[in-house]
Amino acid sequence: MRTSHDHASLDAPHGDGVVLVTGATGLLGSDLVRRWTTSGTSRRIAVLVRDRARWDAVAQRLALPHDAVVALEGDVTREGLGLTRVARTWLASRATAMVHLAADTTFSRPLDQARLVNRDGTAHLLALAADCPHVARVAYVSTAFVAGRRTGVIPESAEGAATERIGWVNAYERSKAEAEALLRDARRDWVILRSSTIACDDANGVVTQRNAVHQALRLFHDGLAAMIPGVVESVLDVVPADYVSDAIALLALRDDVDGETVHLCAGAGAMPLDELLAECHARWATDAAWRRRSIALPSQADLETWELFTQAVEQTGHPRLRRVTRALSHFLPQLALPKRFETRRAAALLGVEPPRVHEYWGNMIDHLLRTEWRGVPALTEAAA
Ligand SMILES: NC(=O)c1ccc[n+]([C@@H]2O[C@H](COP(=O)([O-])OP(=O)(O)OC[C@H]3O[C@@H](n4cnc5c(N)ncnc54)[C@H](OP(=O)(O)O)[C@@H]3O)[C@@H](O)[C@H]2O)c1
Repeated sequence: MRTSHDHASLDAPHGDGVVLVTGATGLLGSDLVRRWTTSGTSRRIAVLVRDRARWDAVAQRLALPHDAVVALEGDVTREGLGLTRVARTWLASRATAMVHLAADTTFSRPLDQARLVNRDGTAHLLALAADCPHVARVAYVSTAFVAGRRTGVIPESAEGAATERIGWVNAYERSKAEAEALLRDARRDWVILRSSTIACDDANGVVTQRNAVHQALRLFHDGLAAMIPGVVESVLDVVPADYVSDAIALLALRDDVDGETVHLCAGAGAMPLDELLAECHARWATDAAWRRRSIALPSQADLETWELFTQAVEQTGHPRLRRVTRALSHFLPQLALPKRFETRRAAALLGVEPPRVHEYWGNMIDHLLRTEWRGVPALTEAAA
């Protein structure tokens, strides 16, 4: 397997223009590139990668067609995305669109670090796009949780994002909201695709990339937390990765979505928190070893009570439990800030309703039980 990524390949003939994709080594970006390179269009893809060897490994894993993708080394935190002058000149003459997925997706980063990649990285991409006269679309993959501490119905528009006054649960959410604002101000030909949190690869429930949701479930599975933030209306809005990458592939370059913000979320198909916990409990209880531990369902607590719990863990908890609780505190409070993401525009554009969490949640729990959750670790070993 070889991917074209040297300067000589920049002289190769091109089809209908080049689409620059950032974040192509990541979960969604790699699947997007796979979809586009195997769909039989004449579209030429260039990917911005920090580490060429990592990209080559991804291209090999995905069995991308020979020479389907031009890999350009760079880094979104640098001006001009850290591209060589040759690469920038090539993009200026060939690029017709940019699809920006590169991000620091860690919820626990301090604000300045999150901004460096997510906000400033977007600013650098927009500056480069401004130097590319044929670029007629900048698609930005954002998060639905730019909504931050908003509650209620979250519209598919700029108004769906929180403001400084409303606040965000973590610096990731805030830096993504700031990046959206930069894009809206800079151009007219943008589309913002806001994904909910990815729960698993597809409806079969396979999980190839763990995130805060899986970390939280593990904690509850292992009986390490008796409490979860939640109120009566709490739901968990998550999506399978294939729904999101398929939607990005279909919408990012559509010419009738200029200036639109689209939610790639479960929306009305989000799962009420109490049902979700009950289903987890029922699945976990199929394991005799887990049943012997007599682990009870966590009780739901408002944000204030959750805060008291995390303070108690800070003061008296085991160091590993402290680490996990700190990590969860960058995400779990969202559960006590109930919101329903509108998905009307997404459904109209895609022609399908988003997958309902009920349809695959059990499969995902079963997958985790079959793979990494075999057995229940002792309290001191868990969540290392
Ligand atoms: N996964 C989710 O649950 C979720 C939910 C909502 C929204 N999103 C959004 O969807 C997009 C893709 O998410 P993902 O889960 O696929 O991300 P991911 O798997 O965490 O991958 C992040 C990607 O960004 C690249 N990147 C990070 N810092 C970079 C830098 N300084 N310069 C260039 N590239 C850099 C990474 O490249 P390296 O290989 O070099 O690290 C990688 O390709 C992100 O914008 C994210 O905010 C994701």
